[in-house]
Formats: sequence, C-alpha cells, structure tokens
Amino acid sequence: MKILMVAGEANPFVKTGGLADVCYSLAKSLVKKKHDVSIVIPFYKKIKDQLFNEAKLIKTFPIYMSWRIQYCGIYKYIYEGITYYFVDNEQYFYRDGIYSFDDDIERFAYFDLAVNEMLFNLDLQYDIVHLHDWQSGMLPLLFKTDFRVNLSTYNPKFVLTIHNPAFQGKFDPYYLGDFFNLSREFYDNGTVRFDECCSFLKAAIVLSDKITTVSLTHAKELLNGDHAYGLDNVIRFRDQDFIGITNGIDYDEFNPSKDKFIKNYNVNNAYEIKKINKIELLKQFNLKNPNLPLFVVVSRLTFQKGISLILDAIPHISGKANIFILGSGEKDLEDRAEFLRKCYSENLAIYLGYNDELAHKLYAAGDFFLMPSLYEPCGIGQMIAHRYGTLPIVRRTGGLIDTVNGYDGTNKEFADGLDFNDYALQGLLGPCMSALDIFKKVDLHKKLIVNSMKRVHDWDTSTEKYIKMYKDLLK
Ligand code: GLC
Repeated sequence: MKILMVAGEANPFVKTGGLADVCYSLAKSLVKKKHDVSIVIPFYKKIKDQLFNEAKLIKTFPIYMSWRIQYCGIYKYIYEGITYYFVDNEQYFYRDGIYSFDDDIERFAYFDLAVNEMLFNLDLQYDIVHLHDWQSGMLPLLFKTDFRVNLSTYNPKFVLTIHNPAFQGKFDPYYLGDFFNLSREFYDNGTVRFDECCSFLKAAIVLSDKITTVSLTHAKELLNGDHAYGLDNVIRFRDQDFIGITNGIDYDEFNPSKDKFIKNYNVNNAYEIKKINKIELLKQFNLKNPNLPLFVVVSRLTFQKGISLILDAIPHISGKANIFILGSGEKDLEDRAEFLRKCYSENLAIYLGYNDELAHKLYAAGDFFLMPSLYEPCGIGQMIAHRYGTLPIVRRTGGLIDTVNGYDGTNKEFADGLDFNDYALQGLLGPCMSALDIFKKVDLHKKLIVNSMKRVHDWDTSTEKYIKMYKDLLK
C-alpha cells in the first residue's frame, strides 16, 4: 500500500509531543512490513537549517488563499526508508518555534492547501492519506471539493488519528472563504461547525473514512464524553467508523541493552545496573544520597500531564526520595518548579528544556516514573519506563489504564507499576508512599522490575491493526 502521513510534526526532525514519535515509529514499522510510506510536514526553520544541503527541491507551485498568492516549495528527503516531504514557505514556517503563533490557523490552512496541491501535482497516487490531529484536518474537505478531483481515477481513503482532543483548530467562519476559498455553506450545513466556530478537527471527523484514537480506553472516553472536549457529540455520529488502536514505542530507540547513553542492562541484571546508572546521574547533578529511591519525570510541563500534582507532592516526598524533572512547557509550572528547586536542592533536580540524552539517562536511572496525567489519550513515557524497568506511577485514565497494571498488594505476579484514581494530591501521595515501601522490599521490587521489562509495547501488533483497517477501506 502507498500511505501518506500528514502532520504538524514528526521525528526525527521536529517534535513537541508524542504525536511526532508515533508518526515516525508507525511509519517505520509499516516500511518494515514492505509498505510505501511518506510523511509530509512543514519545512520549519530547524529542519531547513539542518537539511538544506540534503533535502531536494522537487516542485514549486503557487497556493491561492483568496486574495493571497503564496509560494510553495516541496522538498524531498529519504530517511530510514520513509520518504519525507517538507512544505516550504518561509513566511509561515521559517521561524523559531513550531506552534502557538497568532497566525497558526493561517499557517495550517496554507499547509493543508499545499498538501492538497501536492496530491494533485505530484502524481503520487496514495491509497491512504493518514491525518494526525487538527493541523491536517481540512484536507479531506479541500480534496473532496476540488474541481480537479476524479474519484474514478484517484480515490485515496482518509484516516484521522486523534492524539489530543483538546486541540481542535478553531477559527471564525469568515476564514472559510478568506483562507480556504470555501463557501459558508460548510459552516451552515455543519461540516466544519463546532462551538459556533469552524474547526479543522471537526471537519476531519465528519469527512474521514475512518477515525482512530491512540488507546482503547480513550476511544471509550471520547464516546462517553470523558475528557472529550466536546467531541463526543461529533464522534458518536461516526461511531461505526471509530476505533482505538493503542500506540507502541520505538524498540530500536528505547532499548536498555543497547542504549548508547547509559550503562547497559537487561532483565537479568537490571536491579544492580540501574543502581550504577543512578549513582552516576545523581553525582552529575549534585543530588545527595543514592540510597534513596529516585522518582523521575520526563514530560511536557503542561496541565494535561498533572505536573501541578507532582509539584504539590514534592515537599511530601523530598527527603524520603530524590526527584528529577526533565521537560519544558507552561511558564507558571516552570516557575514553580524553579522555586521548589531552591527549597529542596539536596533532593530535587530540574532540567527545563528538551534533552534526549538526559531523558534516556533518567529512564535508566529512575526507580519510579511519575505520570499522574489529568487525561492521557495514550502516553508514551510509561511504556518507555516499563522497558527500562522504571516502575510507572500513573493516574487511571485513558491509555494509562490500558498499559499499566497497578500493584495492589496481591497481584505481584503481573503488576508492573502503581496507579490511583483521584486527581488530587492525596491521590498521588498514596502510590508514592507505596513506592517507598516497595523500594525497601528488595524481592518485591525486583519482581515488579522484571514484570515491567517483560511487558510488550512494540509496534508490531498495533501496526497490523492499522494495516487491517487500511485494507478494509480499500476493499
Ligand atoms: C498526544 C497525547 C498522548 C499520546 C501522544 C501520541 O501527545 O497527549 O497521550 O501518547 O499524543 O499519540
């Protein structure tokens, strides 16, 4: 099959969240199974500077956005068997940063128009066009209303994956004409109307042939309105075409027995070697007492991830454990973290920013991995933590329910982490205190590490589910 992934970000070139990991590792896994996979993303400054000499300009064309005529260049670059296409327009994408600009709607309107143009101009004949989140959401409408479309000769099927329902790409109906050259009828007839605005994501839910989200439990949540951000009303209309497929993680990238950033280990010697990794890390960051358990956090610092609960918990845990937080995000959370570091400097390390090497070191050195998310469509950190024998402490929501078996005192044969329900400080402190206890019971701790490292989260099974869905669409 010939598959095109359309997204706002994709590894290894640009990442703000898990969507970038998924796009890339799913594509890689499909390539391994002999499918022809391309990914198209904007040619952001960061990528253009890095690949300017390597990526090849293969086509240019104008993009008409009512009164605007914008340049578009399509660059091509092959990486690990995946064909990357980069959409080049410096006004929109040659900036520091990826999202959160005032003109994001215009930028991604342009992007969707450009990808649509690519579908007509490059003669690529994709069987499947797989959209990820709102940034690519207007594409099915643009394609299906394009005067050039001839479905008897070219009829790609559209699949939408919802990674985060909170981001919907909402805009004023005025821009249907001003950006997309579309009439207001698509607002009036409900195709794009959402909350008295237009929404990229709504349009994609209405017009894609299949809709998926990234875990089974989150699929249920989106249907019953739990953390659905209003999408439940829309998704229920499409429930026949909606499924959950749980993400995997990239087993090449995350492999404690080969990871170049750490002292390597496997399921047989994890308990001992993880300690060596921990001592190294604590020394490097001036944390005292390596005999204490180490709680690690590798996350975007946003409300979704339950970071404020973690910050509230620090005064209660510090002294009994060391804590290391790696990530960046919302300014108030970063400021609070910085403030706490000054108060608890002996036990608390904070690294504000993104640092791949350090992330690997934290997974290897940690005893427990904190992930008390408010909502979590799938979550990736907890699965990486499993692979490194770092027991995840998660809130029971979304994909965290599907991927972690919490220890309850009776299930040590298969438990591989700890969990809790209430999104409250007391909720989180419960499993944190149990973790301190587990840490003291060496045999139990060892058993849970083994369970965690034996848990399988590779892409194989999930990729097969995607392939089956694609094939069903092409029947
Ligand atoms: C988003 C979700 C996260 C998911 C990731 C990849 O970042 O918040 O739960 O794991 O997308 O699908």
